[in-house]
Amino acid sequence: MTFVVTENCIKCKFTDCVDVCPVDCFHEGPNFLVIDPNECIDCTLCEPECPANAIFAEDELPDNQEMFISLNAELAKQWPIITEVKTPLADADDWNGKPDKLKQLER
Ligand code: SF4
Ligand code: F3S
Repeated sequence: MTFVVTENCIKCKFTDCVDVCPVDCFHEGPNFLVIDPNECIDCTLCEPECPANAIFAEDELPDNQEMFISLNAELAKQWPIITEVKTPLADADDWNGKPDKLKQLER
């Protein structure tokens, strides 16, 4: 199993998740983070840390978020590892909870 970053991370990128991951499985893009499913050890630590509630266990994903399983796997191969917390994106609080953010994803 793996944990998965879902849509509400887009344009927020709070990065609190990065601080607790014991195996450095987060990868960073311009406005979204993903988890490398081959590295995640299912420790559960990141899930409660996300202020945007964007992280779910693979088998507990909300119905419309299932495509993020493959998206995390795909983008983890392309984006660099992030290991340190950063300042959230500008307007992160405004974007937190907005619907239909997938079209805002920058690759
Ligand atoms: Fe990292 Fe644990 Fe979250 Fe997996 S569940 S991404 S190992 S903190
Ligand atoms: Fe994204 Fe939440 Fe981490 S917004 S960067 S998954 S803390």
